[in-house]
Amino acid sequence: MKILMSLVIILSLASFDNQIVRDMDLDFDIEKFLSLEGYDNDIRKSRRKNSEVNSQEFFTPYSIVKKMADKVPDEEWSDPEKTFLEPAAGNGQFVCYIIYKRIISGISPEISFKTCYATELMEDNVIEMKERCIDLLKKMNVDFNESEIRSIMDKNFVQADFFNWDYNNWKPLKKALF
Ligand SMILES: C[S@@+](CC[C@H](N)C(=O)[O-])C[C@H]1O[C@@H](n2cnc3c(N)ncnc32)[C@H](O)[C@@H]1O
Repeated sequence: MKILMSLVIILSLASFDNQIVRDMDLDFDIEKFLSLEGYDNDIRKSRRKNSEVNSQEFFTPYSIVKKMADKVPDEEWSDPEKTFLEPAAGNGQFVCYIIYKRIISGISPEISFKTCYATELMEDNVIEMKERCIDLLKKMNVDFNESEIRSIMDKNFVQADFFNWDYNNWKPLKKALF
């Protein structure tokens, strides 16, 4: 009886996984999505040049993102209990890849975002990262509730200085280090 129950659970989980992947746009190309084409434009360059903050901004190209992220074993991507953190997220190169890998591993968009955390110093990057994530879900053609995903992102993707962020309690440090 126990074996039968486990089989039913495994089969229903498997069909849930397939449903997410089945609905996906098969032509979706993550490499193209993360190509960063057009990101290093004049507006961004002049904004950075005139900013008081030298944030050492350089976004990681797709090939490196993939090489690094793919070192995480497959069973971790498909484990809904696992959490992912990007402490200096930029415009979301790693975050978008994490969300992509979680979804193609059968994790729902909602859980993928609930288990992904990011801090980033520059407000414009945080805004851009969130918009890129919504664009990613639309281009992947997965079923999602946009207002729910946006509200999860507002909690989990924050504009913060990582030196002054309390990662254990997900809030600013009581006493700033700097
Ligand atoms: C080299 S970029 C890398 C961005 C992203 N991780 C990627 O690989 O594409 C470094 C990022 O860290 C951010 N940053 C710099 N100092 C930071 C700090 N103290 N706290 C949070 N983010 C910071 C910058 O704004 C910039 O977006």
